[in-house]
Amino acid sequence: MQILVTGGTGYIGSHTCVELINAGFDVVVFDNLSNSKESALDNVCKITGKRPKFYQADMRDIDSLRPVFSENHIDAVIHFAGLKAVGESVAKPWEYYSNNVGGTLNLIRVMNEYDVKNIVFSSSATVYGNPAAIPITEECPLGETTNPYGETKKMLERILSDYQKANPTWHVMLLRYFNPIGAHESGLLGEEPNGIPNNLMPYIMQVVSGKLPFLRVFGNDYETPDGTGVRDYIHVVDLAKGHVSVMKKFNDEPGVYIYNLGTGKGYSVLDIIHAFEKANQLSIPYQVTERRPGDIATCYSDPSKAEKELGWKAQYDLEKMCKDSYNFVKKSVLK
Ligand code: NAD
Ligand code: UD1
Repeated sequence: MQILVTGGTGYIGSHTCVELINAGFDVVVFDNLSNSKESALDNVCKITGKRPKFYQADMRDIDSLRPVFSENHIDAVIHFAGLKAVGESVAKPWEYYSNNVGGTLNLIRVMNEYDVKNIVFSSSATVYGNPAAIPITEECPLGETTNPYGETKKMLERILSDYQKANPTWHVMLLRYFNPIGAHESGLLGEEPNGIPNNLMPYIMQVVSGKLPFLRVFGNDYETPDGTGVRDYIHVVDLAKGHVSVMKKFNDEPGVYIYNLGTGKGYSVLDIIHAFEKANQLSIPYQVTERRPGDIATCYSDPSKAEKELGWKAQYDLEKMCKDSYNFVKKSVLK
């Protein structure tokens, strides 16, 4: 089975290429390298012995998508490509709607032209907004998004669901990721954002590598056990394996399938700091500052539907996530 991975040189995409190849799938990657490097595929090759065929192109250019489908026999698409920086999306909404929504509309159109009817879409727990109930099940109503990035995820879930309703032979898998962190244990793949990171673990990485002086903890007056925000951190390799597990659903009835990919455990910002310090025997300087606009107190999943229907369950604990994150920094960023 041949899988097109859009955004396959990125953080989650590159880890997913490894797991797909290890599971025996053929992988074709499409990416414009706006937030990644082609060398990720060399590292995928070092780990698996296979280098995916690569198309460097932009999904906003519909003509650049067609050769991927005409030159390969694509059975399914895993669609990671997109812009994902929340703050940037507030400053540049047009770019986010154009890239994420416009690009995906192009992809759907070309899939339709080539009769490819299987798609996995990278959604996010952000679609639940401030969740109505914790832990969050897939039945939880969608909430208000606080930024254009989150809105693109909600819109794309709706667009893909509407499209499936009108084209009932399609399989649409909407995967709602919680907070991926960690890196491949080889230290060859990981997350290396451009500029000052938005997310907690990449920010910690820059503090421990000396690029930033201290971590700002955004508020310690939430209604959580220690007052800091609680999230469901999941090892990126577990998340990648979730994509392999979902492949078998393409043999089931066509339809729209929705899964939370998380661990079901919530950790606070202080839990993460302390776990990282313990796992890597170092200390993280931090200061508590005001809350970050748009943040919520608590967000963690009920991942039991994915376990029941996909046979997938996250395996790695927080210590492993912290160790692998730091190992990547030592081996690939500070080298
Ligand atoms: P990433 O930025 O590392 O990967 C996205 C890839 O898409 C990049 O390699 C980028 O170059 C590529 N891309 C962007 N626009 C493109 C375009 N127009 N044409 C072709 N390629 C394009 O991000 P990631 O963390 O690996 O996230 C992958 C997906 O998962 C994204 O859709 C993201 O919104 C979603 N997601 C991520 C998280 C997270 O915390 N990392 C959480 C929930 C959902
Ligand atoms: C954020 C986005 C969400 C997106 C997700 C993955 C916001 C409001 N939400 O989620 O839309 O889907 O990333 O890209 O931006 N924290 C600090 N200091 C920091 C960074 C974070 O204290 O420097 C805290 C946050 O307040 C939060 C926790 O760490 O409590 C996790 O933050 P983050 O990694 O940004 O993820 P989310 O807020 O869950």
